[in-house]
Amino acid sequence: MPRKYKIAVLPGDGIGREVIPAALRVLLAAEEKVSGFQLEPIEYECGGEYYLKTGREWSEEAETFTKEKADAVLLGAVGAIGPDGEQVRLPDRNLAGYNIVLGLRFQLDLYANVRPIKLYEGVPTPLAEKTHKDIDMVIIRENTEGLYTPARGRLEKGGETELAVDLRVITKKGARRVAKFAFERSVARRQGAPVDGVMRVTCVDKSNLLAGCQLFRETYDEVAQDFPQVERDYAYVDAWTQWCLRKPEYYDLLVTPNEFGDIITDLGASIQGGLGMAPAGNIGEGKGVFEPVHGSAPKHAGQNKANPIAAILAGAMMLDWLGATRKDKNLSKAGDLVTQSVADVLREGKTRTYDICMGDWKGITPSSTETVATAIADRIRKASL
Ligand code: IPM
Ligand code: MN
Repeated sequence: MPRKYKIAVLPGDGIGREVIPAALRVLLAAEEKVSGFQLEPIEYECGGEYYLKTGREWSEEAETFTKEKADAVLLGAVGAIGPDGEQVRLPDRNLAGYNIVLGLRFQLDLYANVRPIKLYEGVPTPLAEKTHKDIDMVIIRENTEGLYTPARGRLEKGGETELAVDLRVITKKGARRVAKFAFERSVARRQGAPVDGVMRVTCVDKSNLLAGCQLFRETYDEVAQDFPQVERDYAYVDAWTQWCLRKPEYYDLLVTPNEFGDIITDLGASIQGGLGMAPAGNIGEGKGVFEPVHGSAPKHAGQNKANPIAAILAGAMMLDWLGATRKDKNLSKAGDLVTQSVADVLREGKTRTYDICMGDWKGITPSSTETVATAIADRIRKASL
């Protein structure tokens, strides 16, 4: 009997509704090829569009299934434009869909946001002198506190906002668990940094100024003592942005507070070929939500042109994570097969969406979202295991 896994599938808004079905097709091809496990995807509508229609961001059923019953969650993107041409917002001014993306991170306590910055062979990078041999790091973004702690507000006087405050919270517990996660990942991945093969965890912070970052770094140092085989490394976040462009090959794993992680992973996405190439996994104890880093991109929606690879790679991360946490080798095998097939299609070069038709691949006619997913699924079917 194949082992079964319930997957909550939440395409959300905009291009989420195109890239998630594409990713699902690829995952199901891998399931069929590897066999021995069965994915049971259940799809729910959610996000800004759904809120416009119903006054809710998702149904109660969707919420209960996602939070309590699903083995893993595959999320697209949320954010819609309303009939007035403005972003759809909740009465509290938050983006409609916020309670899905951020709500899941907080309520399921998904403390590590894993964002691999890997340049695949065959993908253009804006860094002139760098190749796929230089760019292969993983940023671990703290995901439950920092500036994202929902302790914020405005002071209104006579109907006018006088000031607005966002409280940035860093706890010892939060710093410890995410640092441990990063060190463990570096050890598990073994390969080290591209430049020298050294396993290295870089703590990216602003501890020259901020108390929270000082606690973050002190805690990182405490955790590091349990991992003598991994090199310690430190960077202030402002300086790191230029090192990321100058010597990406120096980095293996990185760990950083929430809001810095948000910013530097978009920078990272740009050197790996853009947001269309950047997957993420939000991971807690036994719970995981996997999503592309990109948003709903309303202006590109409905044209079957968005790059599905970020969502497909997020799906591969989901299979890997399920394989490791549920101790199911078939899932791990399927995860590897998806990643390998993405790499093969990219290396081959012919089939790619518009966003990566540049540089050496400038003359290529862009393929649609569906065509790229089909090429990857075909590759999976033809693979020899
Ligand atoms: C991300 C996104 C989210 C974030 C938004 C949608 C709230 O930018 O996942 O990086 O800021 O974390
Ligand atoms: Mn972001």
